[in-house]
Amino acid sequence: MTTTIVIGGQWGDEGKGKIVDYLASEINPDFGVRFNGGANAGHSIENNLGSFVLHLIPATIFTPGAISVIGNGVVIEPGALLVEMKKLVEKGVDISGLRISDRCHLIMPWHRLRESAEEAARGKEKIGTTGRGIGPCYADKAAREGFRVADLSAKGGWELLEDLYNRNLKRLPVELHGSMPALEQLQKMLRDFDRQIAGRVIQTEALLWKARLQGKQLLLEGAQGVLLDVDFGTYPRVTSSSTTRLGAYHGTGLPPSDDEVVVGIFKGYVTRVGEGAFPTELNDQNGHKLREIGHEYGATTGRARRCGWFDAVQARYAHRLNDFSWIVLTKNDVMDTFGTIRICVAYNLDGVELVTPPTTDRDLAKCVPVYQDMPGWQTPTSHIRHFADLPIAMQNYCRRLEELVGVQIGMISVGPKREETIKLATIS
Ligand code: IMP
Repeated sequence: MTTTIVIGGQWGDEGKGKIVDYLASEINPDFGVRFNGGANAGHSIENNLGSFVLHLIPATIFTPGAISVIGNGVVIEPGALLVEMKKLVEKGVDISGLRISDRCHLIMPWHRLRESAEEAARGKEKIGTTGRGIGPCYADKAAREGFRVADLSAKGGWELLEDLYNRNLKRLPVELHGSMPALEQLQKMLRDFDRQIAGRVIQTEALLWKARLQGKQLLLEGAQGVLLDVDFGTYPRVTSSSTTRLGAYHGTGLPPSDDEVVVGIFKGYVTRVGEGAFPTELNDQNGHKLREIGHEYGATTGRARRCGWFDAVQARYAHRLNDFSWIVLTKNDVMDTFGTIRICVAYNLDGVELVTPPTTDRDLAKCVPVYQDMPGWQTPTSHIRHFADLPIAMQNYCRRLEELVGVQIGMISVGPKREETIKLATIS
């Protein structure tokens, strides 16, 4: 029995969807679990069934016979989940294995509305959220003012809904009252949601404990990335959930086990969506090339992603927080035409050299990257399937990243398709 945990190592969008899909095809997990975030995530997958973007449902939905669980750490927007389920069914995907934790909090209309008002009030200090109401939903969870999946069928659930509705109406700026659906409309939508997820809602923590006892293979799928973690990321410009390995326990109810493989996913460069400090950001021709060649536009919001060089200071920090068993490097092929590739090996903050990131976003914004330049390989690599066949300059780039981050690379992705993957000796 093994539990494999997949974690984004940067600011999200590292290619987790493809890697989880690949790993699922290799290890044939009995259970897959999404453990944090919500429909702010967009996991892109291209496999033998077509092209998909999953926002809430784990990528194991494509693994025949697997049970795919939306864990208690996930916040669910009912409409978004129904659309996702429908799209999968329309493309012939069997979703009979989908299960939903009864502890998941639901995103309500007031969460989105509150978020838009809060972002507007932040002015220059805005976060640049995905606008999905994720932050206010997690805030209500912590404030004990949330509405959970279990409440849909629990005694007193509808009274709770009415109470929350009225409280939130009072809280919203008057100009947004017109955007709130009527209570009856909301009740009707939630009744329909409840009907459509009937039979899938359970105490998923108990299901997963039993799976472990039975020696099943588990694949836990994180959303976003370490640098967006609410505790350890670039606060306050972060998401509202735990995006590290620690979030996997918190968001599933599974305790840590001795038999775990923790896989960190990193792009060969870095991207960020939304506001916040980004020391290695490239506002030049190289940044433009990374964005266009790498199709760096958000899978959820369509926003252009900010692009920059690989930041080994942040990557090393991400490794320390997660103690990765090995890492995956994705999208190196995007840099196939680059003459020189830079790696940030340290920061200079007010004349002091730092090898770990500062705690505040303001200090991070002042950090000047110390770069090491590496020669580019300047040849196509997407067709290559063995590490030894990669151009020497790319091999050197990978080996240098291993040294700087302090962990071995187990896999290199050279394109979006499942087969465009190189497995290294580390894991084969
Ligand atoms: P929220 O999660 O919508 O509250 O957004 C908070 C921050 O996290 C913003 O900078 C978003 O752009 C970023 N973010 C949230 N989800 C993702 C993701 O899946 N990929 C990349 N960035 C994300």
